[in-house]
Amino acid sequence: MILVTGGAGFIGSNFVLDWLAANDEPVLNLDALTYAGNLENLAALAGDARHVFVHGDICDRALVDRLLTEHRPRALVHFAAESHVDRSIQSGLPFVTTNVAGTQVLLDAARRHGTQRFLHVSTDEVYGSLGETGAFREDTPLAPNSPYSASKAGSDMLVRAAQHTHGMDCVITRCSNNYGPFQFPEKFLPLMLANAQEDKPIPVYGDGQQVRDWLYVRDHCEAILAALEKGKSGEVYNIGGNNELKNLELVKKVLAALGKPESLITYVKDRPGHDRRYAIDAAKIRRELGWSPRFTFEQALPLTIRWYQSNGAWLQRVRSGAYREYYARQYGG
Ligand code: NAD
Ligand code: TYD
Repeated sequence: MILVTGGAGFIGSNFVLDWLAANDEPVLNLDALTYAGNLENLAALAGDARHVFVHGDICDRALVDRLLTEHRPRALVHFAAESHVDRSIQSGLPFVTTNVAGTQVLLDAARRHGTQRFLHVSTDEVYGSLGETGAFREDTPLAPNSPYSASKAGSDMLVRAAQHTHGMDCVITRCSNNYGPFQFPEKFLPLMLANAQEDKPIPVYGDGQQVRDWLYVRDHCEAILAALEKGKSGEVYNIGGNNELKNLELVKKVLAALGKPESLITYVKDRPGHDRRYAIDAAKIRRELGWSPRFTFEQALPLTIRWYQSNGAWLQRVRSGAYREYYARQYGG
């Protein structure tokens, strides 16, 4: 058995579904079902004894301890986090609690129980922001700029310390921006799909010239699997899609694919401290673990669009009351 945290969120649910589609090793899924966690993402596993869901908080030491005593998972794959930069700007403390303290709770429990491997899912955002050229390497110094990325960098450092001090078997992955099914529509790509479908404005922060590297979520899940099974303890692996796009280019591609007019683009106030450019050098994971993305953007964007079009009910439900309050706070009106 493996323990997955945050397995009802966007990437975690994709990982659990892909995992159980490929092998029979059971998954213990610990998720607090915050606004971002949604059991509907796992509906395909209803009645599947290989999936054991536990509704709980990674900060709950007694619960985590009990789960490791009862189930003795061989490995822990740690996705659970507060994950949205704009929310961290509105309020940073939940990010420190879950991302930093929660990670330490898991590390302590994994050490006590002798869990064989701790795979920590992190982000390229811990490296900060790039100029016009260059790419983040695993030895790029950490320089996080948002409360979100600072809390992720904090968790990375705790994982590093657990490996260094206690000799735990830990691997860290740092991935670029994901897209695909089940992504909560606070993130840019699903937000634009949701708004464009209803002919609502697409809010573009600042001048829209910021660059992100977009990776299909299933490729990220495969990379995590490779790192879990073949990664070397103490190592960091960058994961990227080799698919850099300016935000404005991305919006235009999405609108074109949807057959919607560019007049939906609406420039809004820039995000405070907005990182200008992210780019990933993923040579290490390609060379050492044999991973590279299987999906091109041209293949996976239509898959993602189709998923959102055929899952209107999912979208409506996640955009209920609390989402509308967040949206009004973030975008006004
Ligand atoms: P998400 O916000 O969609 O999901 C997070 C999940 O964690 C939710 O199911 C939520 O209920 C759960 N959770 C939150 N706090 C918890 C707590 N205290 N205890 C238990 N569960 C809790 O996030 P995501 O986009 O799927 O990201 C997953 C991981 O991948 C995060 O660690 C994130 O930093 C990292 N990451 C994300 C991206 C991206 O593009 N989305 C890129 C690189 C890395
Ligand atoms: P996001 O999906 O929040 O991911 P991250 O900030 O972690 O990279 O945002 C992706 C990019 O899109 C980022 O440069 C911010 C920008 N953005 C907008 O222009 N408008 C929006 O409404 C949102 C949510 C993001």
